[in-house]
Amino acid sequence: MIVIGGTSSKSLAKDLAQELGTKFIQARVVRFPDEECYVRIEEEDLDDEVIIVQNTHPDNNLVETLLLQDAAAGLGARKITTIVPYFGYARQDDRFEKGEALSAKVMIRALEICSKHLVTIDVHKPIILDWFRGETNDVHAAPCIGKFFDGHGIDLVLAPDEGAMQRASEVAKVIGADVDHLEKTRLSGEVVRMAPKNVDAKDKNALIVDDIISTGGTIEAAANQLKILEARSVTAVCTHGLFTRNALERLRKCCNAVYSTNTIENEVSVISVAPQIAKVLHNQI
Ligand code: R5P
Repeated sequence: MIVIGGTSSKSLAKDLAQELGTKFIQARVVRFPDEECYVRIEEEDLDDEVIIVQNTHPDNNLVETLLLQDAAAGLGARKITTIVPYFGYARQDDRFEKGEALSAKVMIRALEICSKHLVTIDVHKPIILDWFRGETNDVHAAPCIGKFFDGHGIDLVLAPDEGAMQRASEVAKVIGADVDHLEKTRLSGEVVRMAPKNVDAKDKNALIVDDIISTGGTIEAAANQLKILEARSVTAVCTHGLFTRNALERLRKCCNAVYSTNTIENEVSVISVAPQIAKVLHNQI
């Protein structure tokens, strides 16, 4: 088995190869002056099972993923597993308005041209994986997040809304902390309101867990609510740290600390999800 890293997932791919005890290859990826992508896997042949690790967000990473798959197929890979740590377009999983594209399905179908196995991490709605005509797994980051915070004095784990409770509960179980949820309403792309809710946060070290931090609006509203509830400290963690615009700066003003996993590599992506991906793959491959 060989792990090939794309440009978006260099450290995660390396970590994963180490976890699996397999060879790691960093693909050669270059952008032409017109921005088109050139991909080469510098091996004689790949008569083996190949695992490609690369995000499909933003759009240029999707093209790179497709080219990596084709390069591996061209070298004779026996089976190609595509690991997409952050799967772009997962939120457009329906035609919410007439005439819209069903983006999530388009992306899934594009990925199955050369690949028989698709692995995502905390994909927004795992049901979209049913569109992939092959094996699929959605890996939960929660065990890795829980392990990271174990022993850090967290008393209370919070989901921003009830829908995110399962993830928060998984994290809380590893840490041995209490768990609860806030009540979120999105007013616009960047503005989120948290309804006042009777959560027992007084003098507690609270950890807010979400799948994605994009503008930071959700976490900011949750952190402000926890301050009203007199929490001692507020830490935020997410699986996918998109941190659009000035989100990190915005969150540093209302949280004691902000962390993410390494599905998107950034300055706070200190939690590796490689152990959990390896665990799932060991049972599959
Ligand atoms: C929403 O359904 C997600 O779980 C996140 O809460 C959301 O994407 C966070 O976005 P933002 O950081 O822009 O509030």
